[in-house]
Amino acid sequence: MTAPVLDPCCGSRMMWFDKQDERCLFGDKRQESTTLCDGRALEIKPDILLDFTDLPFEDNEFHLVVF
Ligand SMILES: C[S@@+](CC[C@H](N)C(=O)[O-])C[C@H]1O[C@@H](n2cnc3c(N)ncnc32)[C@H](O)[C@@H]1O
Repeated sequence: MTAPVLDPCCGSRMMWFDKQDERCLFGDKRQESTTLCDGRALEIKPDILLDFTDLPFEDNEFHLVVF
């Protein structure tokens, strides 16, 4: 197991207080840096690129999956 928690659609990790929490493996289908219309930076930098409809993991690899 690489981490006990999987966030397979992490986006910019807005729901995380600690966006670098090492207990979580952050996944998304894209990696992107852009500027939103209000000037804020949007950074999507997952640990792993994946499609949550076809996860590259075995069953029961994570204690918790968050969406
Ligand atoms: C609303 S955002 C997630 C927001 C995130 N929970 C947060 O706290 O900021 C949805 C994310 O799901 C990703 N996504 C959409 N379809 C996906 C798929 N099939 N596999 C992986 N990620 C996907 C998008 O790229 C996008 O970054």
